[in-house]
Amino acid sequence: MDKVRIKDKEFKIYLSREKIESTIKRMAEEIETDMEEKDPLFLVILNGAFMFAADLFKEMSMPCEISFTRLASYQGTKTTNQVKELIGMKENIKGRHIIILEDIIDTGITLEHLQNTLIKQEPASIRLATLLFKPEAFQKDYPIHYVGLPIHNEFVVGYGLDYDGHGRNFANIYKVIENE
Ligand code: IMP
Ligand code: MG
Repeated sequence: MDKVRIKDKEFKIYLSREKIESTIKRMAEEIETDMEEKDPLFLVILNGAFMFAADLFKEMSMPCEISFTRLASYQGTKTTNQVKELIGMKENIKGRHIIILEDIIDTGITLEHLQNTLIKQEPASIRLATLLFKPEAFQKDYPIHYVGLPIHNEFVVGYGLDYDGHGRNFANIYKVIENE
């Protein structure tokens, strides 16, 4: 599919599944090289990162654990400044090496909040891995250790990313068509 429609918006293809696949292979190699000896605990941010996490995991064979959590701050196509609390994480993370898996970092507000919450539980380290990153929208200055693909400040869907709950199932990533 070159174009998709979700509710009131049209989207056109932006990143193909092949591009996403090769990006994830590269990220898996980088993460394994750094973390092989550390038995890391991956923390997957739902819902958006579920596909990314599943494909990344299949590319890694080091000892590690995975846990899923939810921390939403997004409605429609604009980031809201309200960040909801962390739910669903039951692991004891004290002394553990944490790698947060996120679908996309936009303003950076969501992950700042999450990191501040996790630090209180005294992990040994926290690293961030995001499939997509919007440098033009990023308002923070914390390091993002593993970036799949930097993209322009455009609204995208597919491969886990949604518009009002829809579009997560697409294998490609699409960007919104504005005023064409
Ligand atoms: P941030 O707090 O502004 O960094 O927003 C991060 C969250 O907003 C991500 O976890 C996504 O769920 C959502 N988000 C940001 N940009 C997009 C986009 O282009 N498409 C879909 N969701 C997005
Ligand atoms: Mg998300």
